[in-house]
Amino acid sequence: MKTIFNDHTRIDEALIAATKFLTRFSIEGARRDASVLLVFILGGDREILYRAPEQILTTAESELFKQCIERRSKREPVSHILGKREFWSREFFVSSDVLDPRPDSETLIDVVLKHVTKTKKPNSILDLGTGSGCLLLTLVAELDGVQGTGVDLSPKALEMAAKNANALNLTDRVQFIQSRWFENVEGIFDIIISNPPYIETADIADLQTEVREFEPHLALDGGADGLECYRLIVSQANEFLKAGGYLIFEVGIGQDDAVTGMMKQAGFDGIEVHNDLASVGRCVSGYSKL
Ligand SMILES: C[S@@+](CC[C@H](N)C(=O)[O-])C[C@H]1O[C@@H](n2cnc3c(N)ncnc32)[C@H](O)[C@@H]1O
Repeated sequence: MKTIFNDHTRIDEALIAATKFLTRFSIEGARRDASVLLVFILGGDREILYRAPEQILTTAESELFKQCIERRSKREPVSHILGKREFWSREFFVSSDVLDPRPDSETLIDVVLKHVTKTKKPNSILDLGTGSGCLLLTLVAELDGVQGTGVDLSPKALEMAAKNANALNLTDRVQFIQSRWFENVEGIFDIIISNPPYIETADIADLQTEVREFEPHLALDGGADGLECYRLIVSQANEFLKAGGYLIFEVGIGQDDAVTGMMKQAGFDGIEVHNDLASVGRCVSGYSKL
């Protein structure tokens, strides 16, 4: 591969060369990605790009930056190259073993935090399909005294969730269980949250490379109509919720009506759809039978 830039390159020159290189590979937001990766290599000080653009990269910095840019040119997500992703103002470790926390999923956090201000303080939250743990750990960190249980079928995802719990000093307030949805879950909970896989199987081939090639299909594939996991979870959720307990799902675009229907049929009350910042119905919530 043609070299991206020569050694002994200035910061500003490296940034321009890397941006051009990524643009050649049709990476959208090439300059943004190149800057984020360069700042990462330079130790996280963003200001340096403006304060000392003439500073020469060391050989080690040059080499590492080139490697990062090459990885990005092959469409590896920036978060995987950095090994982390911000969610609700906290950093989470991520890798190709877990779904990257998405900004849209902050809607679920927002709705649950508003819900708890109106009700008795919850003691327990169950997260089905915890992945990196971003939803569960955020809520446990935000809600004093709450204990969290995170479930995933993927042992590697559970390892990542445990690593994140450790980094956030939450290990004594969460447990992680390998389980196919409720299979190995014991107890009843105040709140059940879930962002299950919801992409229709046939649509997976058309996803952008960053998602299709670098994120686990177990986190994406929601079956033929994308709704299989919701059906399974809704059919059992009442058994694992306290009377009047709260069930909330993240849903894919256009799935809110179908999930509302399932929850109605299962006897949930007060079902609501909650929009994300783009006015898309992003979460569906309801209360279990009293
Ligand atoms: C869309 S990801 C959500 C991850 C994380 N909660 C988030 O919001 O970023 C769905 C998660 O469900 C897990 N999963 C898929 N099928 C499962 C099953 N049958 N039982 C338990 N977890 C499952 C996947 O491994 C993945 O971590």
